[in-house]
Amino acid sequence: MHRPSLTELPAFKALSAHHAQARDWQMRALFAQQPSRFADLSLEAAGLLLDYSKNRVNPETMQLLVQLARESGLEAKRAAMFAGEKINATERRAVLHTALRLPRNASLVVDGQDVVPEVHAVLDRMKSFSERVRSGSWTGCTGEPVTDVVNIGIGGSDLGPEMACRALRTFAHPRLTMHFVSNVDGHDLDAVLSKVNPGTTLFIIASKTFTTRETMMNAQSARAWFLQKHDEAGLPRHFVAVSTNTEAVSAFGIDPDNMFPFWDWVGGRYSVWSAIGLPLVLAVGFDAFSEFLAGAHAMDAHFLGAPLERNMPVILGMLGVWYRNFFDSASVSIAPYHQDLSQFPAYLQQLEMESNGKRVTSGGAPVAVATCPVVWGDVGTNGQHAYFQLLHQGTDITPVDFIAALRPAHALAGHHAVLLANCFAQAEAFMQGKTADEVRAEMRAQNVAEDRIEALLPHRVFPGNRPSNMLLMDALNPATLGALIALYEHKTFVQGAVWDINSFDQWGVELGKVLAKNIEAELAGGPRPDRHDASTNALIERARAALSG
Ligand code: F6P
Repeated sequence: MHRPSLTELPAFKALSAHHAQARDWQMRALFAQQPSRFADLSLEAAGLLLDYSKNRVNPETMQLLVQLARESGLEAKRAAMFAGEKINATERRAVLHTALRLPRNASLVVDGQDVVPEVHAVLDRMKSFSERVRSGSWTGCTGEPVTDVVNIGIGGSDLGPEMACRALRTFAHPRLTMHFVSNVDGHDLDAVLSKVNPGTTLFIIASKTFTTRETMMNAQSARAWFLQKHDEAGLPRHFVAVSTNTEAVSAFGIDPDNMFPFWDWVGGRYSVWSAIGLPLVLAVGFDAFSEFLAGAHAMDAHFLGAPLERNMPVILGMLGVWYRNFFDSASVSIAPYHQDLSQFPAYLQQLEMESNGKRVTSGGAPVAVATCPVVWGDVGTNGQHAYFQLLHQGTDITPVDFIAALRPAHALAGHHAVLLANCFAQAEAFMQGKTADEVRAEMRAQNVAEDRIEALLPHRVFPGNRPSNMLLMDALNPATLGALIALYEHKTFVQGAVWDINSFDQWGVELGKVLAKNIEAELAGGPRPDRHDASTNALIERARAALSG
């Protein structure tokens, strides 16, 4: 699909001119001029409320941003993705994570084959396996039920299930403790192995390719650890695999009957909905997992069907484009005011940065504008006592996405009101700031001397006018979590469509993998390395000495 460069699009030019005025707008004034601003600039979908009124936009900005989405060909690209066209052109693959959450009675024919029955056949296997593990009828080689599940995977084969298991911990089976090992650093696996009993531990080896160095090494080490206590006959009760690569799974020694497959049209960072979600199914049960899929499907239906002007992923994505390309905001901060969403920022880092951290268009030309901002963040209120200082008074404008649930999943009196008060207060403070006059009035009321007031004034002024979105849900549950993840998947898609990049490949991770393989061989011994730069040669030398000593 050929398209003019983004900066040549009429809406982009109009937005550039519009920004020349908009950059001076004060949100305080925008709120004063538009009493219906919350009603006008908020919307609900799939159990989520998005309040985007605290942004530096007016109705014309929103109309131009939506026009830019249209001129970027978003609607055709969206239709192509949902229909299973091979929009991941560099890898010649369809992008069909949305098919993973289609109901059983749906149909989606790709390359002459309806993928929905295949998806549900795997879901059925996940259901029956999880029921056996959860009920205790699946036993380890000693005849005892499983107490610990260790997922060994990295990137998309780790971040999604880990984040979701934490998010839904209050729905989890009481007998099963979930562990996630991703890092090739042996301290990661060691910390888990030192806690679990081989006779009651189930390992899930999760890797789309089943070739990833970290995962394969951890899997081999886990196998060796198991075999120190039990014999080979016990392996099938303790090792299952999730992969697209049946051959490699068999070669590893896992019975294909204990393998849960998925397909090349599921990208790693979009795979939590597939068999990669097996740890989540084990933890929360198949019914809850079905609600998780249904929540995501509800967001898919909204993204496909709602007009762009009232479309949550489109609005979230285009606001991101507004700050990235017109205000030069280099990062975006994610602030979940929910401890159980503590891994959500890390999950979004892979989702957004591996998808949209690209510098060329789908046609291979340099992108004319900045693409994916850095995504970072942590739970509130912790972030308030760490880096919020920079968000309030630093020199950059960093948009913040607040995420909160109205109802807690605990019964501790008072906490939730304090949490929500902080969440809303921070968004208010970012927007309102505090003027010099307000600081003076406040300090005079405290009888501070005039010279002291003037000395402190610059330090105590908050510029305000700092944008944020507020995402609210009634409660964090499988359905709202599913909708939330799907919202960010589609937001990522919208931005990739506007920047005209392939959001579904990740060539940028390859170079380091290849170089690491060379260095691995050098660290293992052999001739002195001299083919690198002086710095790398010297570092390898030091490590060789340490490892051999
Ligand atoms: O190296 C990046 C990456 O390919 C991610 O895209 C992927 O999620 C991760 O590695 C793990 O890959 P696999 O599931 O094939 O082990």
